[in-house]
Amino acid sequence: MKLIYTYLKKYWGYSILAPLLMLIEVVCDLLQPNLLAKIVDQGIASGDITLIVQTGLTMIGVAFIGMIGGFGCTIAASIASQNAGTDIRYELFTKVQSFSFSTFDRFSSSSLLTRLTNDVVQVQNLIMMLLRIFVRAPLLCLGGIVMAVSLNARLSLILVVIIPVVGITLFIIMKKGLPLFAKVQVKLDRVNQVVQENLSAIRVVKAFVRERKEKKRFHTANKDLRDMNVKAFKLMVLTMPIMMLCVNLSVVAILWFGGIQVNAGSMQVGQIMAYINYMTQILIALMMITFLLLYYSRAQASANRINEVLETKIDIVNINNPIVAPITKGSVRFDSVSFHYLKSPPILKDLSFSVQEGETVGIIGGTGSGKTTLLQLIPRLYEVSDGSISIQNQNIKSYDLKTLRESIGFVLQNTILFSGTILENLKWGNQEATIQEVEEVCKIAQAHDFIDQFPEGYNTVLGQKGVNLSGGQKQRIAIARALLKKPSILLLDDSTSAVDTATDAKIQKNLKSYLRSTTTFIVAQRVNSIMNADKILVLEEGRIASIGNHPMLMKESLLYQEIYRSQIQEGATDEE
Ligand SMILES: Nc1ncnc2c1ncn2[C@@H]1O[C@H](COP(=O)(O)OP(=O)(O)O)[C@@H](O)[C@H]1O
Ligand SMILES: [Mg+2]
Repeated sequence: MKLIYTYLKKYWGYSILAPLLMLIEVVCDLLQPNLLAKIVDQGIASGDITLIVQTGLTMIGVAFIGMIGGFGCTIAASIASQNAGTDIRYELFTKVQSFSFSTFDRFSSSSLLTRLTNDVVQVQNLIMMLLRIFVRAPLLCLGGIVMAVSLNARLSLILVVIIPVVGITLFIIMKKGLPLFAKVQVKLDRVNQVVQENLSAIRVVKAFVRERKEKKRFHTANKDLRDMNVKAFKLMVLTMPIMMLCVNLSVVAILWFGGIQVNAGSMQVGQIMAYINYMTQILIALMMITFLLLYYSRAQASANRINEVLETKIDIVNINNPIVAPITKGSVRFDSVSFHYLKSPPILKDLSFSVQEGETVGIIGGTGSGKTTLLQLIPRLYEVSDGSISIQNQNIKSYDLKTLRESIGFVLQNTILFSGTILENLKWGNQEATIQEVEEVCKIAQAHDFIDQFPEGYNTVLGQKGVNLSGGQKQRIAIARALLKKPSILLLDDSTSAVDTATDAKIQKNLKSYLRSTTTFIVAQRVNSIMNADKILVLEEGRIASIGNHPMLMKESLLYQEIYRSQIQEGATDEE
């Protein structure tokens, strides 16, 4: 449990204080039975009221001190465990932020969510238990044995028999319980996964009228979790009666053998009572140790899952001494670039082409031909598998990642906006932008007019993911957001797919005149959107089928002619 050590180190003061305070409580707990024996054997036997009152008051005093110890311990343990938990969560979050796209492909977002929430809580609870019980139980157990033996060595033969019996029973239960609890964790994961998938895709679920099926899927996962929990806890509840049986049997044994000794005059009644007390404490301590171990193994599974995230190597990093000077001339060159995803066949195959600063490149090709993938390689969201990409004649790997990405504007295929106002969303592109600048880019992206029509204008609050906007409106805001960055390279991934053709044409025209020095990549389904580009790449199954401008391709590329004809004949479909 390196994890616990690492994160508890910072709160070592509390981590030491808690067990120390617990020590006080344990000592107090151990003193009580002896004091009780004193009242019975000396006070009551001789009718000494003063002794009884005095000892009684001492007992109250000791109980009070013990209570302060226990209370303080809980507080210190809480502070330490909560803080450590917060730190782990923060560290996880920071790490996840630094993940590359390919790392995200590896961890599902539901599993990341479970790790950030449930797993951290498990570890946090374990820390709490460790700081309290880890000290308390063994101390109580050992202390109890010492006190019992010193009280009456011969009676302790009973302990010699009962402790191994209880120990072995608990061990067997634990051995059976551990794998069960590990399974509970897996089932819980599954429930979380189903819930998360459904919440994030609730619109699709409804659109496809999948509610019934999804409910069933959830019910199955939920039932599985319940069954596993019941199975695990059935075993756990078994410990209670077994423990009671052991306690009662030993009480009988103590009374029996103790009684004989009392009759023989070598032991007193109060001592028997104290002895029973100590023995109960010992057995309860044993039970607590078992629970702690069970909990430990459960949290261990969580800690492993946390570590898996924390120890993930960030695959896309800066080289030593990267170029930090901003990219001003966005010339781009691909040299025999190939790419495949983590576990995919080759997606891009041996692409070579170059683009001058300020040129516009259209990219067209069937779905799955690798257009999005190609764009994602430029800001190093994924790393090329082979070959190289250069900007300003420098390999993109030699740039500082932040510099590189700040110089590139990217409008993703699926527009993502955040809850907040439209203005706040736009300013993601540039925090310092003035309202004039914002309005300027919005006019270029044909967003100004519809934003202006909202009663609140630029201060209109967007729901989560911008639900209160149409697809085409979101896309135009996303374009404006990217423009506000004043990027040297602009990547538009099918960014006007939901915008009607007339508006699209206006946007293309505006972009052309606004982005004179910006190198622009436009991925589009419509030939119209890219017709005026300086260069058009026709992608087919990850290869460049042809490259050239519109008139050239119309002459030379059969594929391009085909796409063009099919669209002209169908007539552009307007949607918004
Ligand atoms: N994260 C990913 N992991 C594995 N394969 C992917 C991933 N993203 C896309 N692909 C695959 O790569 C291919 C190209 O995808 P993409 O670049 O999105 O195509 P396009 O944008 O041209 O429609 C597709 O076959 C797709 O299934
Ligand atoms: Mg795509």
